[in-house]
Amino acid sequence: ATATTADTFRPALHYSARNTWLNDPNGLIHHEGVYHLFYQSNPLGNVWGNMSWGHATSTDLLTWIEHPVAIACDDNEDIFSGSIVFDRHNTSGFGAGSVAPLVAIYTSAFKPGSAHEGIQAQSLAYSLDGGYTWTKHAANPVLNRGSAEFRDPKVIRYDGDAGSYWVMVAVEAADFQVVLYKSEDLKNWDLLSSFGPANATGGVWECPDLFPLPVDGDPDNLKWVLTVNLNPGGPNNGSAGQYFVGDFDGKTFTSATTVTQGLQDPARLAEYQWLDWGRDYYAAVSFSDAPDNRRLMIAWMNNWEYANQIPTSPWRSPMSLAREISLHTSDGNLRLMQQPAGDWAAQADPAKSFSLPETTISSATQLLDGAAGTVQRIDVTFTPGSAEEFGLILRGDGLHGTRVSIRPAEGSLIVDRRESGQTDFHESFSSIDTAPIQAMEGSYQLTVYVDSCSVEVFAQGGQATMTQLIFPADTSTNFAVYATGGTATVNHLHIAQFA
Ligand code: FRU
Repeated sequence: ATATTADTFRPALHYSARNTWLNDPNGLIHHEGVYHLFYQSNPLGNVWGNMSWGHATSTDLLTWIEHPVAIACDDNEDIFSGSIVFDRHNTSGFGAGSVAPLVAIYTSAFKPGSAHEGIQAQSLAYSLDGGYTWTKHAANPVLNRGSAEFRDPKVIRYDGDAGSYWVMVAVEAADFQVVLYKSEDLKNWDLLSSFGPANATGGVWECPDLFPLPVDGDPDNLKWVLTVNLNPGGPNNGSAGQYFVGDFDGKTFTSATTVTQGLQDPARLAEYQWLDWGRDYYAAVSFSDAPDNRRLMIAWMNNWEYANQIPTSPWRSPMSLAREISLHTSDGNLRLMQQPAGDWAAQADPAKSFSLPETTISSATQLLDGAAGTVQRIDVTFTPGSAEEFGLILRGDGLHGTRVSIRPAEGSLIVDRRESGQTDFHESFSSIDTAPIQAMEGSYQLTVYVDSCSVEVFAQGGQATMTQLIFPADTSTNFAVYATGGTATVNHLHIAQFA
């Protein structure tokens, strides 16, 4: 018999591997009705190493099934991040008979003693059984610049005025550059252009993505979004993802949202556009071929600052929820909005839901009996009165816990995890993190997902998001609303409970 551990941090609505380490999501694709999540995996342990592609599938984006390792490291190479395309016209020639291949484009991180020692280059593998088993291409790597920091290829199908072909975005990580390549067959690649350095350059650039989105839902007005993760140098320290909005003509991405070009001073971080302002949303990348042209992203819910030390066992690191991304104009600027993508209502237990009628709090913390829980979706709207700060205290004892709050005069959304539970496993984990936020018609709307080790905040309809790991005791389930230094009104509060 094997010993059992309590595993109280195991998430209910997020993917975590059974008993191994994971980092970046890789090869996200919707294929034959199934969402495939491949990911950076250490099949042999629960810290980073032996990088290979793990594999999980889902049909609802909330519950996942783990499968055997898809692409394994060997004596020659580690399998770093990359993407998967469905090569429906068999441009690569990897197909067999009537079966078109799925093709993975990944980074070979060549090991000491191998022929390409110290080099990172792009390689291929293909699957003829819908993504469950993979064969490495015999002539790897297919794209080698002789660089030690060339990685994380995301391949898309470009179909526009310039023609129809594959486009790869990858990074020269240490140069803060995204490089763009073109191919007819996924095997031969020609350089198109490069982008960067621009905006945030406080750390290496990693895991880029490039996709079109309709502006304000208008299919005749498409703009292109370039996302770039960087580590460190995020708005609240460590790993984070920034984005640029602009145009792509099949060759060059032109940003309309560049604030600063070249290397610059970290004091301007709050002026850049971030996929998430929290500490634990990294290596975000989007699905290929999602149904109905939806743009869905998943990120690794961790931060390289303390990733290898978070107190989960036998697994380490969850993925974020899947999010749907859309593009909107706000005050003349192009901004992403993000919403949780899965059908949460189908998972919730209606018998346990909680609602609060309109309530004004005055310099007090109000414990809400019946609102306690460990896995929740909270929808709340506040109208500020005279309080300098108001918000929620989650996963606590009613007074201490994780605070999700607004400071209207400062224009900030705050997640304070100093009293969230275990914080002492790393000196930089205990934190108060902020994002800029403006009132809409005088009020603030938050949707908050709480799981066994995380809080994800979608503020003002998803204009700003904050994702944070927390490690509360399983007995810390109380829920409170509070206001300090005056009044605030809770206009509406609804809590759905899961598990
Ligand atoms: C980002 C990253 C990628 C790399 C992978 C290695 O977290 O550093 O750039 O491909 O992780 O595991």
